[in-house]
Amino acid sequence: MSSQPQPSRRSRIDPFIVMDVMRAARERTEAGREVFHLEVGQPGTKAPGPVREAARRALNRDRLGYTDALGLPELRRAISKNYHDLYGVDVPMERIAVTTGSSAGFVLAFLAAFDAGGRIAMTNPGYPCYRQIASAFAMEPVMMETGPHSRWLPVPGDIERAAAGGLDGVIVASPANPTGAVLSDQELAELIGAARQAGAVYISDEIYHGLSYGAPAGTALAVSDDVIVINSFSKYFCMTGWRVGWMVLPEALIRPVERLAQNLYIAAPSLSQHAAIAAFEARDEMEAVKDIYARNRQILLNELPKAGLTDIVPAGGAFYLYADISRFSDDSLAFARRMLDETGVAATPGLDFDQVNGHNYMRFSFAGPTEEIEAAAERLKAWLPGQAL
Ligand SMILES: Cc1ncc(COP(=O)(O)O)c(C=O)c1O
Repeated sequence: MSSQPQPSRRSRIDPFIVMDVMRAARERTEAGREVFHLEVGQPGTKAPGPVREAARRALNRDRLGYTDALGLPELRRAISKNYHDLYGVDVPMERIAVTTGSSAGFVLAFLAAFDAGGRIAMTNPGYPCYRQIASAFAMEPVMMETGPHSRWLPVPGDIERAAAGGLDGVIVASPANPTGAVLSDQELAELIGAARQAGAVYISDEIYHGLSYGAPAGTALAVSDDVIVINSFSKYFCMTGWRVGWMVLPEALIRPVERLAQNLYIAAPSLSQHAAIAAFEARDEMEAVKDIYARNRQILLNELPKAGLTDIVPAGGAFYLYADISRFSDDSLAFARRMLDETGVAATPGLDFDQVNGHNYMRFSFAGPTEEIEAAAERLKAWLPGQAL
């Protein structure tokens, strides 16, 4: 007789829907059918040349054993230097922890800074994993509603309102996923000030830094040393599968994060750490990749309205367009399924990012090759008009 283990209550989090869409797209490809990948937030380009070269050298030369839990000193030094060169801020390498992608950074930040029951303010819509990670740790996500009224950005009043019930943390991404919204330096400083007033730790997700189509996003480290900054090589440096990122910590959290990292991960992947040291040499290469995103963004901003998607957030950064589909459907999950089935265009239902209004939105990623974006736009122009409610 089999007795199946009962899953824990904490494991009952929502799926990361985009990963489910990716699987459906892969199954379709395996069945020999065409797919246009506008679902996943990952560059269509390889890791930069110097990174791949450094990886080859490390493979041949190094034992690639565990590193320090906080990462290879050489990589931490390179990240520290990058803060100086790029933003003009001095961040000692001791405050930098290398992580298994920024995803591990959220786990470490939440565990180091908040106890079970801790309340963390985050935007709606927003990156879904903040909410799911907090829930899995028995912490409480507190939603800050954004929309056209706030240019899809949180405002200090949202933090003040969230703080009425007691607040431990605030996490905000700028540029944001799924909207591409970018905080100005002043807006960022005001949010950090509001978090401080509320006695909450401000966590700045800077993973889309470098990917702005207007004014660049400023780092929270230029405002305060008491914030946690999370970043990654995944997006700007096109290294999603290498699983390497970093966090910058306030003094008081360095040792707690080190203890957690030792026990939870031992260290981030050694090969990826050796390779990432070379990433900062590849700025020119990455800027050329960004030019492709800028072109792709413009193609979608020109073409999607011709398909009837007239209400699109004009992303200031990242590589996503968040579009209102309410003229066509009020069920973004079913809409995404039908769109993939009938056109081969894979995109992500807004429900992944927003449980309140997400049934009326879709997110289109423009990080792939230009030909794929162009072909997808043509398919949508032929298909969408027939879907109007
Ligand atoms: C806002 C945001 N933060 C973090 C991540 C996770 O990135 P990684 O774990 O690859 O560094 C993503 C991925 O899409 C994201 O959109």
